[in-house]
Amino acid sequence: MKFFLDTANLAQIKEANDLGILDGITTNPSLMAKEGIKGKEAIDNHYKTICEIVNGDVSAEVFSTTFNEIIEEGKKLAAIHPNIVVKVPMIKDGVKAVKWFTDNGIRTNVTLVFNAGQAILAAKAGAAYVSPFIGRIDDTCWDGVQLVAQIANIYSIQGFKTEVLAASIRNANHIIQCAEAGADVCTCPLDSILGLLKHPLTDIGLAKFLEDAKKM
Ligand code: E4P
Repeated sequence: MKFFLDTANLAQIKEANDLGILDGITTNPSLMAKEGIKGKEAIDNHYKTICEIVNGDVSAEVFSTTFNEIIEEGKKLAAIHPNIVVKVPMIKDGVKAVKWFTDNGIRTNVTLVFNAGQAILAAKAGAAYVSPFIGRIDDTCWDGVQLVAQIANIYSIQGFKTEVLAASIRNANHIIQCAEAGADVCTCPLDSILGLLKHPLTDIGLAKFLEDAKKM
């Protein structure tokens, strides 16, 4: 399973990249706004900077919601760097645009996916990635990880090449569960990735080894 970081924060991207386990980045308008990135030039430059730090796919989301506008915006985003993947919302014009991008050699990530039907449409349109939102599904008392497993199973049965990118990850256990459910990629906040490191017995064991090492 690939590890993507779900952020537009450069310090966090550098920290995760330095760990050596980072395979890519996902962003969205909320994450870009959180970093204070405003205006087309600043947005393009920010994506360029991220692409220069990380050797992997970087999802850049369109703000448009009509076919022609999505195509124009997506073409410009894709031109920023070869690693840019155009992130398109799961709406009717979005699906149509994903098919157009697929036919024209531009890779896409279909976002805001909340059921298997949407995931089938994304795959039919040729999306490189489909993004089911695990945490937001859990918030509605459904099981987000279960959806990842269902999509992975359908894609496997049907031979779809679209990668299942588990998004809206809230904790380290989500990452473990998504790996078990067959996710191809998990896009996570840095804290959730670092949460995988933690176990009290590791800390206790290390303290004891270090203490005993002084006696060697
Ligand atoms: C995925 O690509 C989205 O950017 C993201 O995972 C949404 O997560 P949230 O539900 O924590 O906002």
